Amino acid sequence: MKDLTPPTVDTARVARSFRRGLGSYHDAASAQARIAADLSALLAKHLDGAPVAHLFEFGAGTGHLTDALLRDVSVDRLTLNDLVAEAEAGLQSRLGAHGRSATFMAGRIEDIDLPTGLDLIAGASVVQWICDLPSLLQRFATALQPGGWLALSGFGHAHFHELVALGSDAAAPNYMDHHDWQQVLPDGLHLTELRQAPITLRFDSPRAVLRHLRETGVNGQSRGGWSRSRLRRFEDAYRAQFPHQGGVRLTYDPVLVLARRV
Ligand SMILES: C[S@@+](CC[C@H](N)C(=O)[O-])C[C@H]1O[C@@H](n2cnc3c(N)ncnc32)[C@H](O)[C@@H]1O
Repeated sequence: MKDLTPPTVDTARVARSFRRGLGSYHDAASAQARIAADLSALLAKHLDGAPVAHLFEFGAGTGHLTDALLRDVSVDRLTLNDLVAEAEAGLQSRLGAHGRSATFMAGRIEDIDLPTGLDLIAGASVVQWICDLPSLLQRFATALQPGGWLALSGFGHAHFHELVALGSDAAAPNYMDHHDWQQVLPDGLHLTELRQAPITLRFDSPRAVLRHLRETGVNGQSRGGWSRSRLRRFEDAYRAQFPHQGGVRLTYDPVLVLARRV
């Protein structure tokens, strides 16, 4: 039977986890960097040189998507958000390298008063942390100008499937496959692009996978506290079930979404 219980998220725990990973995230998050670059390139193709007067990016983290957008798109004004207030310093210094600065709004995107008249709302690798996505998308539709763009990436159900198979509780609460998106977009947003293609990363060992999760802060839901014997069982099962190029594999399952305000 389908589980109808709405997903929940422990925001304080998620924030703690991303805050702890802030120093290591940018270099460790190679998959998220690739996803941000792909999303930005896809949007740039559709914009075809048209300038963006006001960009609002949520869950900006250390700026993988911000960087890519500033490289690919002509943006006049930027407003950035992240759950973690400490992300602002790194983002502003990254923007400084482009000779830019941004208004920063800290907190849960679900609680933020969105600017209005936006030309682009973007967020890469964030929506999997949002439990009530339809409400947020409705607010995005209202905040966008007619003709404005929404550029998002989330993750599908094959995301980290190796960890799920081994009983890990590190998953984010809201994974959606490409065919789930049409149902959550409000009437005012017209779907323009939808892409889902997995990325496989190779690690030397299962322990290196766990380190990668910690360094990218994405295991914010995990209860942790593993005993030595549980860790050994996890490592043995991981090596046996998911060998890859002399090490082990971890699958990212990104879904890219572009929609336009009608
Ligand atoms: C996986 S990182 C992605 C960062 C960046 N967008 C990228 O592509 O590398 C997810 C980011 O979303 C932020 N985040 C998680 N839940 C959020 C929420 N409810 N509102 C705003 N930001 C959130 C986290 O603090 C973290 O910086």
